[in-house]
Amino acid sequence: MNNGDVSQGRRRFLIGATAAVGGVGVVGAAVPFVASWNPSAKAEAAGAPVTVNISKIEPGQQITVEWRGKPVWVIRRTPEMLDNIEKLNDKVRDPQSEEQQQPEYASNEFRSLKPEFIVLVGICTHLGCVPTYRPEVAPADLGDEWLGGLFCPCHGSRFDMAGRVFFAQPAPLNLEVPPYRYDDDATLTIGLDPEVA
Ligand code: FES
Repeated sequence: MNNGDVSQGRRRFLIGATAAVGGVGVVGAAVPFVASWNPSAKAEAAGAPVTVNISKIEPGQQITVEWRGKPVWVIRRTPEMLDNIEKLNDKVRDPQSEEQQQPEYASNEFRSLKPEFIVLVGICTHLGCVPTYRPEVAPADLGDEWLGGLFCPCHGSRFDMAGRVFFAQPAPLNLEVPPYRYDDDATLTIGLDPEVA
């Protein structure tokens, strides 16, 4: 692939982000947007934290919000998805998230505060394209060993359902987990660390 492909991937996101201004804030139309995300344009430009209502995200569903100009995914993982993550520990480069791609509180196998929900910056760690959410198991184009995850269309990098990169991929690192916290069981704020009791 060439840089034109990469630029196109970036452009796709920029177009999505532009379309969201003044609208409901969806980046990518593959899934319905159910979060109560409505920061003012000014707050958004300043990189303000973004609050997301996660109560209506269905098991297996991914939603996308924008934080600091980047697409950020919230995925509600099913018990089966969590089982599959554990099966892949010997196939991913950094299974326990030891490299600094997440806050310390998400430095674990599931890369999250609570296993059920993962929060990821939706930008490939290779050259910055936006990967695609591919939760299906063994789809024809990704092969029998695919147990669901994120696939980058620019140069083919594969990540599991925790955003962990497989061995021998163009992408060198796991997808980034941004700082986030639970305000309550139904509400996440992206951009703020958990409050220390
Ligand atoms: S940008 Fe190259 S694989 Fe994602």
